[in-house]
Amino acid sequence: KGKSKTVWVCSECGYSSGQWWGYCQSCQKAGTMKQFSPGVESNGTGKVSGFEFSENVARAWLPQNSADTVPIRLADVNRGVSPLDWRIPLSGLFGAEVGRVLGGGLVPGSLVLVGGDPGVGKSTLLLQTAAIIAEGHAMGGTAPVVYVSGEESIEQIGNRADRMKIGATELFLYSSTDIKDILDKARPLSPRALVIDSIQTVYLQGVTGSAGSISQAGHVTKSGDIAGPRVLEHIVDVVLYMEGEKCSSHRLLRSVKNRFGTTDELGVFEMSHSGLQAVSNPSEMFLSEEYSDSEILAGLAVAVIMDGSRAFLIEIQALCIAGSPIARQVNGVQASRADMIISVLMKQAGLKLQENGIFLNVVSGVSLSETAGDLSVAAAICSSFLEFPIPRGVAFIGEIGLGGELRMVPGMEKRASTLAKLGYKKCVVPELAEKFLSTLDLEGMQILACRDLKEMINTVF
Ligand code: TYD
Ligand code: MG
Repeated sequence: KGKSKTVWVCSECGYSSGQWWGYCQSCQKAGTMKQFSPGVESNGTGKVSGFEFSENVARAWLPQNSADTVPIRLADVNRGVSPLDWRIPLSGLFGAEVGRVLGGGLVPGSLVLVGGDPGVGKSTLLLQTAAIIAEGHAMGGTAPVVYVSGEESIEQIGNRADRMKIGATELFLYSSTDIKDILDKARPLSPRALVIDSIQTVYLQGVTGSAGSISQAGHVTKSGDIAGPRVLEHIVDVVLYMEGEKCSSHRLLRSVKNRFGTTDELGVFEMSHSGLQAVSNPSEMFLSEEYSDSEILAGLAVAVIMDGSRAFLIEIQALCIAGSPIARQVNGVQASRADMIISVLMKQAGLKLQENGIFLNVVSGVSLSETAGDLSVAAAICSSFLEFPIPRGVAFIGEIGLGGELRMVPGMEKRASTLAKLGYKKCVVPELAEKFLSTLDLEGMQILACRDLKEMINTVF
């Protein structure tokens, strides 16, 4: 077994550090920093307990016997053999969405950790994924998959599978919290995959500490962070987080660590009565319901934000009320950014907003954290102030400078082509972007290039 880097981990809060401290740098508790190296754990007595999260189980593509291998010159490394070639593809719309976040499928022998707030849908995701792997439509046939729950009885899981119309014949359910027992019972089935729901409920006999403590596995904090598994995050190959909005059925699956792919893919799902469904056209999911042309409201502007490698459309709402100068409320937009945009609109574009209360809101509870949305915020404010609705099919991309000038933002091409794909007719962009975008096929979408806010207002309003 290769020598691996030692980390010191607080047994209380999961804080990890490259060096030992007398007290935890995070939670300040004394004497809680325990030595940890993947596959080997000191139990404090100087004796090493066999914590079988061993490196060579987790990373089957690494040479198992390092005695025979020597360092190889970069040029001589065989590129043909890559973990990427060994991926298990996941079939169906849902499978494809999960697979994309994983970097193109599951790599055999890999350990994937899924985190997220309680109730967000982790168990649902895992059960559906387990069923797809067991059915093996893209893998040449069925194979056993074992789904172990430390939280629910197999009857409960069975009922849920029925509601989700899961009928995979090779899916095995087991309820246990004892790792040794789980491995003993799963091994004879030679499963294609083993799912453990969840890691904080399982324990290894003979290792001190309660289930979920650092010497056992890890736990998920109230905020959904994987705390104990800071250690787990070091060991596993892929870390996925599931996120959702309380008032929305959309669920996002994000990869925060991936040894086999990029971490900027984002999976979009919708929680339905029969489980998670992939959202095939997520670009328009944040838009409010379609309005007919006669009922378009003033104060609405569409912005394009990037998340991972994908562009999303969001809708900014502004409400200007004359005569309530103090009120200024923002929701989903950074307050300081909103203040800046409002000031620039007054000073550089001559809008008399001083006498107005201004409210800003991003539809669907998304937050706008990119300056690329500046121009939409400004357009929404202008639209409400001038009581002039922005026609449908018009969107805005661009950052605003203090001089009122429009600036380029990253991902111009992706944003513009997403708008074009969704049938947008006009897109207002910074002047510099025009030449840049002229080489793209934008399906007839007109590019309205503007130097500054004044020009934008003259063009649109
Ligand atoms: P769950 O997967 O148990 O969440 P986690 O494992 O992350 O705690 O999902 C919990 C919620 O999802 C629960 O409130 C009910 C809802 N749900 C549906 O809306 N539809 C479904 O088909 C299922 C299985 C769950
Ligand atoms: Mg669960």
